[in-house]
Amino acid sequence: MKRIICKNYDEVSLLGTDILAKQIKQNPKIKMVLATGSTPVGMYKKLVEMHKKNGLNFSGVRTFNLDEYYPIKKSNDQSYDFFMRDNLFSHINIKPENIHLPNGESADPEKECADYEKMLAQAGGVDIQVLGIGVNGHIGFNEPENELKLATHLTNLTKNTIEVNSRFFKNIKDVPTKALTMGMGTIMKAKSILLLISGENKAPVVKKLFSGVVTTDVPASFLNFHNDVTVILDERAASLL
Ligand code: PGA
Repeated sequence: MKRIICKNYDEVSLLGTDILAKQIKQNPKIKMVLATGSTPVGMYKKLVEMHKKNGLNFSGVRTFNLDEYYPIKKSNDQSYDFFMRDNLFSHINIKPENIHLPNGESADPEKECADYEKMLAQAGGVDIQVLGIGVNGHIGFNEPENELKLATHLTNLTKNTIEVNSRFFKNIKDVPTKALTMGMGTIMKAKSILLLISGENKAPVVKKLFSGVVTTDVPASFLNFHNDVTVILDERAASLL
């Protein structure tokens, strides 16, 4: 895995933006997997700026999101559907039909996951996958477990993830306990992967990621098997390396 250590969060966001913008210019019909959470917010803000000031063109770009809470209404301001519209999609010229997220409103989550996986396969694979990492080592909602699932699936969130994500909700009881997530195999199929990491709370998991050990206790450690991963992290996240 290629590792780039930046001074701070702003530089992580800037470098992530440069990489994505360059790829969009080179391949205007690029297929990207996008992530939510605090980490990519700065990058999305800068992509919006590049669209508004420099005309970065998203009209041919196709996006697929990594995960979504389940069940959740798209109108809920904590849904990832809402997050993506709020932070990126409403501010750029992406075509609505080119945006894909797992549907947290689906009455049949198993079918939703199977359909999502099929739709990704029919799209012919993605060019770049943006990822964050949880303090517990999760990617998407592939949580530390004895075994990891390959395909998109419905999963239970761990207590740790519910606690960590409760910062976005009024009450911890409001945090959904399940999610729809791309599986480890879905993630690993991307041609390239861009993992953004910031903050000293991530330093212990970053140490595990680069420890040379692959374990289902740290789902992100499987990224070591992919041959085109760029990890952009700030000095605080890299402080235990
Ligand atoms: P964060 O979440 O960017 O809000 O830290 C990352 C994740 O849980 O994957």
